[in-house]
Amino acid sequence: TSAQKGGYPFFMLKEIYEQPDAIRNTIAPRINQELPDFTEDGIDDAIFKDCKRISIVACGTAMHAGMVGKHLIEKKLRIPVHVDCASEFRYKDPIIDEETLTIVLSQSGETIDTLEALKLAKNRGSKVLSIVNVKGSTIARESDYVLYTHAGPEIAVASTKAYTVQVAAMYLIACRIGLVKGLITEHDAKRFMTKLTNASNIVEETLKCADDIKRVADHIKFATDTFYIGRGLDYTMSLEAALKLKEISYVHAEAYAAGELKHGTIALISENVPVIALATQEDVYAKVISNIREVKARGAYVVLVSMDEEVNDPSICDQHIRLPKMDSEFTSFATAVVLQLVAYYTSEAKGLDVDKPRNLAKSVTVE
Ligand code: G6P
Repeated sequence: TSAQKGGYPFFMLKEIYEQPDAIRNTIAPRINQELPDFTEDGIDDAIFKDCKRISIVACGTAMHAGMVGKHLIEKKLRIPVHVDCASEFRYKDPIIDEETLTIVLSQSGETIDTLEALKLAKNRGSKVLSIVNVKGSTIARESDYVLYTHAGPEIAVASTKAYTVQVAAMYLIACRIGLVKGLITEHDAKRFMTKLTNASNIVEETLKCADDIKRVADHIKFATDTFYIGRGLDYTMSLEAALKLKEISYVHAEAYAAGELKHGTIALISENVPVIALATQEDVYAKVISNIREVKARGAYVVLVSMDEEVNDPSICDQHIRLPKMDSEFTSFATAVVLQLVAYYTSEAKGLDVDKPRNLAKSVTVE
């Protein structure tokens, strides 16, 4: 009913706007003296101390949250992380053992492939920590340890707030692992946590771009094919961006590592093909800009997502979504809001049932 939607036309939009609170509710209870602390969750630090490798298993959007975790853990802590979708993990004789920590992500806690992957990991002697939104769900019960996300119920089939809190949980875990293993100092961990705490404010700020994003959607709704490009963390975010757009607007979207385009599908970029370029990573910013020039030269319609106050050379993009200034390591939260709103407004502009996309289920409990 419309009352349940709190005045929003769809649950998805309501849930997008619930993210600042959801993130706050997930992070705040795990901060003790400015440091990440899972004592209340009953998570034994030994699983972090003893692990040599990390294996992340999940499906769909939850897997993309895991990929943000991989990026972060490998970059900051130099611990190897492998991410698999659960349906592949189960049947490939995965390389895991007692020294591997398995992290499972699931909003519902009921996804059958993820549950079976979890059991397999346990059988191989790996400790399993799950990040789950639904209390008491099967995955939560089967895991050695659970870090509950506090997104509250998510009704729209396309996951939004449950994703950003999974991402937040990955940041918390990365920081805790770093501390327990002595890979980061308390001082650095505190600075990291200050920035993480600010993620909810960043989401609030980014939500103010909604009108600009609507204009992007008004262009994309006519497209048959679109591209999301980016490097590093932005490439990881592109994967989720493309998935979300496809899921609810039925516009085909492809995520490409910006530098890889010329080794593959750049021939598909022609006049007016929308290319959404994520350029939030300082270390590769100039590289992404030069990739944008490559697609622009082929006539692409470019939407630039960056922290630039203004774009120095307006010929590189047709629209600009300007994110608030922040550390490159934490842009995932802002980018998530942009990609969710692009998908949402495109679906809405096409007159689709945003909350119930065809052929998709909220949670897949049968094989
Ligand atoms: C389904 C949903 C996706 C979701 C995936 C994993 O396919 O349509 O949106 O990401 O399942 O769900 P889970 O509940 O395990 O996070």
